[in-house]
Amino acid sequence: MKKLRVGILGATGMVGQRYIDLLRDHPWFAVSVVFASERSAGKSYKDAVRGRWYTGSDIPEKASDLIVKKVDEIDYAKENCDFVFSALGSSVAKQVEEKYAKDLPVVSNASSNRWTKDVPMLIPEINPEHINIISKQQNNHGFRKGFIVVKPNCSLQSYLTPLYALHKNFRIKKVIITTMQAVSGAGHPGVSCFDILDNIVPYISGEEEKTEEEPKKILGKIKGKEIVKDDSFEISAHCNRVPVIDGHMACISVKFEKKPEKEKILEIWRNFRSIPQELSLPFAPKNPIIYRKEHDRPQTRLDRNKDKGMAVVVGRLRDCKVFDYRFTALSHNTIRGAAGGGILNAELLYKRGYLK
Ligand SMILES: NC(=O)c1ccc[n+]([C@@H]2O[C@H](COP(=O)([O-])OP(=O)(O)OC[C@H]3O[C@@H](n4cnc5c(N)ncnc54)[C@H](OP(=O)(O)O)[C@@H]3O)[C@@H](O)[C@H]2O)c1
Repeated sequence: MKKLRVGILGATGMVGQRYIDLLRDHPWFAVSVVFASERSAGKSYKDAVRGRWYTGSDIPEKASDLIVKKVDEIDYAKENCDFVFSALGSSVAKQVEEKYAKDLPVVSNASSNRWTKDVPMLIPEINPEHINIISKQQNNHGFRKGFIVVKPNCSLQSYLTPLYALHKNFRIKKVIITTMQAVSGAGHPGVSCFDILDNIVPYISGEEEKTEEEPKKILGKIKGKEIVKDDSFEISAHCNRVPVIDGHMACISVKFEKKPEKEKILEIWRNFRSIPQELSLPFAPKNPIIYRKEHDRPQTRLDRNKDKGMAVVVGRLRDCKVFDYRFTALSHNTIRGAAGGGILNAELLYKRGYLK
């Protein structure tokens, strides 16, 4: 089978590196071009990431000697890519992604198009039907062959799927969330070691707003030419940066319209699947929600890589004296929360005929 040729925009950053690493043996997609800023352009990929390659595996051989292109070499992309993943910093992503989307599908990690009303913000286990807005997006923006699909912020990946599974059954009324977010979430070089070692920083710019608002679009519905958000419950978020390399943890308190039985919640999480098995998406976790019964799990270092880093690991479900229940949830921020999530979105688009 001929693989689709993939370009990575922002290939040298933390998320870009994850794409390169995770796509090394992908059955449908092969990395053909790597793009970054002027700082990296013209260098071989291995030279451009020298001293900042962080995934823990070796750089895939096929990517090592690719020559990094500037992101504005769009004609080169059109000739050599069937679609692109965008792992660009948000300040440049909006303009660049819109230019690419005229001719090439863009599967993005950046926040800049998340609130564009006809751009689907996908978690395939929750809102796969939002891809149906793509033809309207192409008409609205005059995109000839391309389109933009985004994934949400990495902070909400840990708690939204377990909450969604419950909301469908019991209707949530309100939620309080405290996140403990890894330093890789800030990109490279990110937070200085003097600011984060032996420390917790109780502020991440823009993160609480994203954590509270993005779920509303994901749980929303397509109406006419746009996705209308679901305002049925509010989230209050505290987002903290903690001295962990990878893995965002969240502590969640939730109130329902009618308090369900604890056993029922566990059963729903245990049986939650959602992505149709017959699609056989290579990056889909076998069990999207893994519940750990031990009183001291999930733990970031022990649980972030479960099911290729694509599962959400949940634990400590217990009664709450103020709301109904409390629990803890964990997901890998640069895999499930970034590159792995982007690849899963692309796999869904491929199986639905949007990538050719
Ligand atoms: N880190 C996470 O956990 C995470 C999770 C979800 C979403 N995201 C989002 O994913 C995106 C990438 O994040 P990151 O953590 O990988 O950031 P990063 O490590 O700072 O990497 C940014 C990438 O963008 C390129 N770039 C920066 N300025 C550019 C410019 N003016 N023109 C062209 N390319 C430019 C960089 O190229 P050079 O190397 O050449 O400078 C690099 O490849 C961001 O939008 C972020 O919000 C990150």
